Amino acid sequence: MCGILGYIGGREATPLLLDGLKRLEYRGYDSSGIAVISEGKLIVRRSMGKLSQLETLIEKEPVDGKIGIGHTRWATHGRPSEMNAHPHKAGKIVVVHNGIIENYLSLKEMLMGEGHTFKSETDTEVLSHLIQRYIFKGKNFEEAVRSALEDLQGSYAIGVLSESDPGKLIAARNESPLIIGMGVDEFFIASDVPAILNHTRDVIFLDDEEMAIISRGDIKITDPKRKEVKKNIVKINWSPTQAEKGGYRHFMLKEIFEQPQAIIDTFRGRILKEKGEIYWEEINLSPRKLEPIKKIAIIACGTSWHAALIGKFMIEEFCRIPVEVDLGSEYRYRDPIVNHQTLLILISQSGETADTLASLREGKKKGASTIAISNVVGSSMVRGSDGVIYTHAGPEIGVASTKAFTTQLVALYLLTLHLGKVFNTISAEKRRMMIQELIRLPHQVEEILREESKIEEIARNYMKCNDFLYLGRGINYPIALEGALKLKEISYIHAEGYPAGEMKHGPIALVDEEMPVVVLITRDKTYRKVLGNVEEIKARKGKILAILDHRDEGMMEKVDASVFLPGTNAALTPILFTIPLQLLAYYIGVFKGTDVDQPRNLAKSVTVE
Ligand code: F6R
Repeated sequence: MCGILGYIGGREATPLLLDGLKRLEYRGYDSSGIAVISEGKLIVRRSMGKLSQLETLIEKEPVDGKIGIGHTRWATHGRPSEMNAHPHKAGKIVVVHNGIIENYLSLKEMLMGEGHTFKSETDTEVLSHLIQRYIFKGKNFEEAVRSALEDLQGSYAIGVLSESDPGKLIAARNESPLIIGMGVDEFFIASDVPAILNHTRDVIFLDDEEMAIISRGDIKITDPKRKEVKKNIVKINWSPTQAEKGGYRHFMLKEIFEQPQAIIDTFRGRILKEKGEIYWEEINLSPRKLEPIKKIAIIACGTSWHAALIGKFMIEEFCRIPVEVDLGSEYRYRDPIVNHQTLLILISQSGETADTLASLREGKKKGASTIAISNVVGSSMVRGSDGVIYTHAGPEIGVASTKAFTTQLVALYLLTLHLGKVFNTISAEKRRMMIQELIRLPHQVEEILREESKIEEIARNYMKCNDFLYLGRGINYPIALEGALKLKEISYIHAEGYPAGEMKHGPIALVDEEMPVVVLITRDKTYRKVLGNVEEIKARKGKILAILDHRDEGMMEKVDASVFLPGTNAALTPILFTIPLQLLAYYIGVFKGTDVDQPRNLAKSVTVE
């Protein structure tokens, strides 16, 4: 939610800010702006709409300078408009902000009472006025920012410039992500790593309530008590080209096609084939630590929550431990039963989702052991958890999650194998077989990707439909939810996912000749039951798009379209079923002309509640 960026160094700031904001645009894209100090004067350029509109404005009205901040917005307080776009200026202070200032109304009232006038409807503008107020009171720039932050309640990642102190960039965070890129004689601040990968891979992760005071040749980081803190520089091993489209029309398509490699990267170096064992560096869960665990709770949001639902099937079946799954937004509000015998698993691509982070805090407070499954090195979730399993999907730029999801499933599969060994519920022989199947998986995903043109054709035939139903059973029921979510996000078509067995309890009322039903069919104990559902849909003239985990010529004749998947073990079928559903949503979005990489109203990383 919202991307912020800042630069100080020897190069022209404007092109660097625009380039970095482009890479952060997936975090928000309803308006954008920059502020640059040019010959001692603060110049602000802001525009409503996509970043290209800001670029057009800057082409007409260029701005030079070697220090600047920028912002791409996802509106929380105040509608998308130029007036509400960041940066927000008050006197000689300008601020970009990601997060929510919860007490902004009372602060605004107090400031207005003192004669401050506001131009926007945002919470952020309060902060620029507060800082300016402390400067009026005689504090220096650094102390004014620190004092203003002390008045805030809520979350923030900020970049601040002052016309009176034109050689300094100040950055701070609390519950919203912020990193500092360490270049040669230059520094960047950014919400996320891809924004600065072209310039440096050396990064400092700011912690909550830390503030960085950055000048051309120096950086100082302080804690809330104003004490200087020494921070580690982390080397990021993502390459800049991973964050480019690389010849694909959209990031989403590129990321769908990156899945075979992302899956390999997620299990590579972690499997001991002959022993049937998993080798972890970072999980930090020794058998001794796992001994007291009686229950697992998996918490996540959106697509990651679908991964969590599948994790429950995997872990309960193979490890025989009860698993409960919760949405991050619900968990802490239902006073969950958690204690030191609970293992809490947080799944989050970004590692910054506010609701999942709040669940982590809730679980820790109650004594749970915690593991994050995350794609982002050094993210808040990772740093707050006892252990981490990284998905090595590489940067995911498309707003709709694709490769992050399938690699989360791989991580859960590896975790299942690990727990199965520790709890002695999966034999060594079975583990070896399960690892063999995992090794075959990337080729099977490639095989499905070769069906792209067939799925494109199906998408062309059904793109005009107004509603879709997705049905799956057992471990693939969450894939029905995921297929429906992907279609909704990318194409804005109404879609619902259901466990197939529930169809008769309501959704069948929706079925008519206009309604495509995507049915996920597996050759297991539910096979006959799902065939029954297919007949019921046909009897009501519904259109059936069948995806099967085996070749079934008879089914081809019954249904309107079919895709066959290669065979694997049940726990890995969700990964294979996901691929055609991603392509279906992608191509329907493309045919409808939607902005598939940045669908309306969405943002990649939901850092506010
Ligand atoms: C859907 C999607 C979202 C995210 C959700 C959680 O395509 O991307 O539903 O899965 O916002 O995000 P993370 O995994 O970063 O916590």
